[in-house]
Amino acid sequence: MLKKHLLLAGIALMLSAGILFGCSNQPTAWTEAEAEILRTLWIGSLPELQPDPSNQYGDDTQAASLGEKLFFDTRFSSNGEVACATCHDPEKNFQDGLPRAQGVGTTNRRAMPIAGTAYNPWLFWDGRKDSQWAQALGPLESPVEHGGTRTQYVKLIQTYYKDEYEAIFGALPDFSDVSRFPEPAAPVSDEIAAANWEAMSVEDREAVTQVYANMGKAIAAYERTIMPGQSRFDQYVKAVLANDTAAETILTDDEIAGLKLFIGDANCTRCHNGALFTDNDFHNTGVPPIENLPEDTGRTLGAPQVLADEFNCLSKYSDASPEDCSELKFMLSEGEALMRAFKPPSLRDVALRAPYMHAGQFTTLEGVLNHYNEAPAAPMGHTELEQLFLSEEQLKQIIAFLKTLSTIKK
Ligand code: HEC
Ligand code: HEC
Repeated sequence: MLKKHLLLAGIALMLSAGILFGCSNQPTAWTEAEAEILRTLWIGSLPELQPDPSNQYGDDTQAASLGEKLFFDTRFSSNGEVACATCHDPEKNFQDGLPRAQGVGTTNRRAMPIAGTAYNPWLFWDGRKDSQWAQALGPLESPVEHGGTRTQYVKLIQTYYKDEYEAIFGALPDFSDVSRFPEPAAPVSDEIAAANWEAMSVEDREAVTQVYANMGKAIAAYERTIMPGQSRFDQYVKAVLANDTAAETILTDDEIAGLKLFIGDANCTRCHNGALFTDNDFHNTGVPPIENLPEDTGRTLGAPQVLADEFNCLSKYSDASPEDCSELKFMLSEGEALMRAFKPPSLRDVALRAPYMHAGQFTTLEGVLNHYNEAPAAPMGHTELEQLFLSEEQLKQIIAFLKTLSTIKK
């Protein structure tokens, strides 16, 4: 009698589960736990963007409009040819499609996508910056990216953007006296620029650096508006969560099987989780080095750099109070786990931006998936990966799924 009841209850459960999540032998059959994971990856779960306490202009539309112009302005470079958009081309997912980025020189790392980085506590592959505005000030003075110095840049602001700048940040100091404000001058490795900088008074250096920091804050205000869009994956999850049978028509069986592997046997969500498919932490995944490039220890160097950064959350150019800087204060700053650890980039739009990894080590997603399947020993430190033993077909299914993360063009 009891057995019969259990059997009936079982059938009833299977039937209702079948109605809820699709027939159980179909690839769309998701358990409740799986459906919950899908919800966390769904773009609808992206939380409302909170203000950045270190940037009081972060949500100022005038600042965003100035920042957008600066982002595309090639005059802010040593050869007049490089802007942020050179390496972060909106037509290419704010990326450049190159293994190593090309500015006035060649960088040792690959450019990163920008959509959604307003949510990132750490910027760059090694997290050596802790805000978008502090990040923007790096490439401007990098000898291989924009290649200029801050005294040059503040003078360009004075020449081309004085009114716009002053409407947001207040009066610009007068930088016209060349003996007080020489070019080039900045705390950089170039000897002439560094010597010029040292020769300036502390007050003049601070006045220049304040305007320079504000440039970063304007650029960040623009970048905060760059967000990932809806993908077929998002449409699918929305339908699944609404028990809408249309879900079946949105993704193919292979794409759904790939998604199952991604959150299941392949355990990709260990690091690629949340609506941006990144845990914002740093991991050694044994990505091979590139011959002839200097050794890249990843977070091992990035951690002390962000702690010492002149523009970090605790710096005098930050608008945050120290209580707002807990990420920085409590971050893991040393140890074996940081060795050759890098930040997982968002996987949204990933199929549209080969090559892959921090120095463009893999030209295709097939290369990436083979790496995860084999989990080779790390060149330095220890890989966090374990061999997956997936079949060729399963690897193809995961790739098919990754392609569903591309923004639908309107
Ligand atoms: C020469 C090419 C080049 C130029 C010019 C350039 N970038 Fe980048 N960008 C890169 C590279 C390479 C990285 C990764 C570097 C690293 O991790 O060391 C990067 C990383 C970033 C990131 C980090 C994203 C993340 O997920 O952490 C942001 C944001 C960014 N750049 C914005 C900008 C802005 C704003 C400018 C202009 C002020 C700019 N970039 C200029 C190549 C460039
Ligand atoms: C232990 C953490 C971890 C796991 C597990 C993991 N990833 Fe990653 N993923 C990373 C990190 C870190 C990077 C960047 C590594 C680098 O550049 O050196 C990355 C990079 C990638 C990239 C390249 C993105 C780009 O723009 O360059 C893809 C694609 C990717 N992962 C997909 C996957 C898939 C699919 C799985 C599951 C099979 C997976 N990852 C599992 C941490 C992880």
